[in-house]
Amino acid sequence: MPSELRRPTLRWGIIGTGLISSWFVGDMVVPRADVTATHVIQAIGSSSSEKGRAFVEKYGGDISPSIYGSYDAVYADPDVDIVYIGIPHAFHKDACLKAISHGKHVLCEKPFTLNAQEGQEVFNAAKKMGVYIMEAMWTRFMPLTAQLLRMIHREKVIGDVHRVFCDFGLVIDLDSLPATSRLKDPALGAGALLDIGVYSLTWGLLGLDEGIAGTALKPQVFSAQSISQGIDVATSIVLYYPQNGRQGILTSTMKTKSDPVFARIEGSHGTILIEGIATSVPHRFTVIPSDATAERQVYDAPPKVGKGFFYEADAVARDIAAGRVENATMPWGETLRVLALMDGIRAAGVSQED
Ligand SMILES: NC(=O)c1ccc[n+]([C@@H]2O[C@H](COP(=O)([O-])OP(=O)(O)OC[C@H]3O[C@@H](n4cnc5c(N)ncnc54)[C@H](OP(=O)(O)O)[C@@H]3O)[C@@H](O)[C@H]2O)c1
Repeated sequence: MPSELRRPTLRWGIIGTGLISSWFVGDMVVPRADVTATHVIQAIGSSSSEKGRAFVEKYGGDISPSIYGSYDAVYADPDVDIVYIGIPHAFHKDACLKAISHGKHVLCEKPFTLNAQEGQEVFNAAKKMGVYIMEAMWTRFMPLTAQLLRMIHREKVIGDVHRVFCDFGLVIDLDSLPATSRLKDPALGAGALLDIGVYSLTWGLLGLDEGIAGTALKPQVFSAQSISQGIDVATSIVLYYPQNGRQGILTSTMKTKSDPVFARIEGSHGTILIEGIATSVPHRFTVIPSDATAERQVYDAPPKVGKGFFYEADAVARDIAAGRVENATMPWGETLRVLALMDGIRAAGVSQED
């Protein structure tokens, strides 16, 4: 096998120097024993070059990327293979389209865009340019997630699944945030559903049905949103599968920190509890057989190196080296399916401004 396929290299251009970009870059430079791809931080794009320099000093380790006081310079840099988009959701569409128009591959943070229509526009452009693009739904790429889904759907360790509960809650005090915060400003896409509810929804979809876009069953969706200062501070979703009676109860809130055991998957022969520091980061699951004499089995994530963003980045590098334009775990259709569900949750749900 050519070495580029065995251990591909990607040169990344980072768009935005906020929280998520710091986590992502930190993971790209963290030493790992079992490296399967080489990630080079080639360029940083920020609203100011001073901010870009401070970012590299703080999070960049030994790297020395080109630092630009604009995003456009990153898209135009011929040494950048792929652009990582880590700015508020409201700007994802525009940033993706600009990167694509320069022939760059793209990894864009979740939620991919504000709605399914924007997402479709971006995928149409990527298809036309023949470039790779993926939503950075990192939770789906963690080895523990893959193991859990295999055990549920293939090995049927808890028999037939009938319900999934999942919660993602963070305490976000809107009154203490500036009006310009991405967590508060409706124009930036603020709200619990797009920020964190997307993870609860994802666990529900993954736990209740082995299929993804193209093969998945279509659930009916019921929802309620509590609105404060123009954004949803709590969103609850019920997914109901009339085909087999399965139900998902999937919640998100900005008013309470969720329990470390953030999800419960119930089946005909047992229950699985999933836990982690956040609903996006599973670190353990426990299989509890309904037979009280049978032992519980605990499964832990591999020893912690970095935060776990390199799993998705390695997958992207392997895809691009193999000439693929989309990823099998998070294909374009799956991003659009989730966005369309979230459109429906907002459009048809019961909502009340406090
Ligand atoms: N995968 C995950 O676990 C995860 C976790 C957190 C966030 N995210 C996603 O990542 C994206 C960014 O979130 P974040 O928490 O990193 O946000 P953040 O800390 O507020 O940083 C966002 C960055 O975007 C740039 N930006 C451009 N226009 C902006 C504007 N009008 N207001 C604020 N920032 C602006 C700024 O960088 P410059 O000034 O350098 O240009 C800013 O530092 C969101 O879509 C979010 O959903 C994902």
